[in-house]
Amino acid sequence: MPTESTIDKFYITTPIYYVNARPHIGHAYTTIVADCLARFWRNRGLRVHFLTGTDEHGQKIQKAAEARGMSPQAFTDEIVPTFRNLWRLLEVSHDDFIRTTEPRHVAAVRKLLAHLEASGDIYKGRYGGMYCVPCETFWTEGQITDGGCPDCGRPVEEIEEQNYFFRLSRYHDWLLDHVKTHPDFIFPAVRRNEVVRFLEENPLTDLCISRPRSRLNWGIPLPFDGEHVTYVWFDALINYISAIGYGEDAERFSVWWPADVHVMAKDILRQHAIYWPIMLHAAGLEPPRRVVAHGWWKMGEVKMSKSLGNVVDPVEMVDRYGADAFRYFLLRDVTFGMDGNFATASFEQRYNGDLANDLGNLAHRTANMIQKYRGGILPPPERLALHPGTENPELAGFVERGGGPDLEPWMRALAPAEALAALWAVIKAANKYIEQTAPWRLHKEGAERELTACLQLLRAVLLDTAVRIEPFMPATARALNEQFSAETIVKGDPLFPRLDPASP
Ligand code: MSP
Repeated sequence: MPTESTIDKFYITTPIYYVNARPHIGHAYTTIVADCLARFWRNRGLRVHFLTGTDEHGQKIQKAAEARGMSPQAFTDEIVPTFRNLWRLLEVSHDDFIRTTEPRHVAAVRKLLAHLEASGDIYKGRYGGMYCVPCETFWTEGQITDGGCPDCGRPVEEIEEQNYFFRLSRYHDWLLDHVKTHPDFIFPAVRRNEVVRFLEENPLTDLCISRPRSRLNWGIPLPFDGEHVTYVWFDALINYISAIGYGEDAERFSVWWPADVHVMAKDILRQHAIYWPIMLHAAGLEPPRRVVAHGWWKMGEVKMSKSLGNVVDPVEMVDRYGADAFRYFLLRDVTFGMDGNFATASFEQRYNGDLANDLGNLAHRTANMIQKYRGGILPPPERLALHPGTENPELAGFVERGGGPDLEPWMRALAPAEALAALWAVIKAANKYIEQTAPWRLHKEGAERELTACLQLLRAVLLDTAVRIEPFMPATARALNEQFSAETIVKGDPLFPRLDPASP
């Protein structure tokens, strides 16, 4: 969704993921959606920069490392490849991968902090609250349950320490006005309305952005006070600019900033729609053009999360079904923005239905007939035509337009599921066309010209599908293209072998 003001570039990001455990389906989903958009706009000729990465500082990581008896750096170095490998397996086409432990990021965070401190947006103050020592977490009065920590139930202590604060409160009115006057800023509308309501009902309080080193060591030291490290969220958000040269390469930075889309799930919308634009505005930078929050993948009715352990392992999914089938399911099964429920039964149903039956069969039958009736060689058509008298509006539309549906309106509307449905309407219509024209009968009757025209139209549909499907299923796009643009077309192996529901 490049906006009016976007000329020819598209900068898209995923959240940077915590490395306290291995990636799961939720991370895969966000990254696949972002990849699909990046590929789509790249194919349309835009200059695309697609960024993903890992969030490596803070207490969570420090604790996870301690639990493994490792230094935080060694621990993160070990986990990061599991993310990189998954993105490779899923054919994610990111242009850059940022780690918050990289010097380029650390330098940018320190620069931004120094800037905000110099402009009077950071001050030192007293930070107090109820603190659970074993959990190392602050709680508000309201969160305390039966006098104890809501997480572990143990008693909490009242604690007070000196910390640094960022003046969010100063920019409350600016942000509310920005959100209201930029209807595209937060997507979808339900999420936008939530943010507006939140801002209308709650004056923003200043954000505590430091942690004393005595309590947390694993973070970026503040440039103006080495006894404190930066709060992990403040550190993490800056990745979106540290990766494109903030404070380091003004020219590169001005090419890509502002970001066109930050993609994430609704759990971290507040940080992206409230803290982040204010941090940027206070530093004299433009806010991102769009912040997009999708729903959660659940198992049963519960959100999948690493801490609950109810996760689907994306690597296993790829091993079992292939990257494209997994990508297809995630992009197709849920309306972007809504929650989705992951069930193996519905996955296998879509696999057998949409992939094995619809697309797989179309390719297989078409190649088979070209091989059988034409020895694999089919001249290019003078013009595409529908068999006279065939009632098939979808393919008639294909012939008339000279191709499948334009997916751009769907992609602008952030509706990959609907884009795929539009592609599948043509695929299904082509299968129906095979039944309607019965090429085997044309062959028997010696209607050679009609048979050729029919096969040419089917091949055209498959070659056209190869192009349009690329952002969603890159390997399938290559396979279709290879098979149907070859000089001699052969049947080959099925693209999506049918799953036997009885198999374990
Ligand atoms: N490190 C922060 C993000 C900092 S961005 C400047 C973080 N990391 S995370 O590893 O917890 O990832 C959260 C993101 O992962 C979600 O916003 C979403 O993109 C994805 N998902 C994690 N679990 C998910 C589901 N169960 N369902 C859908 N997406 C989920 O928060």
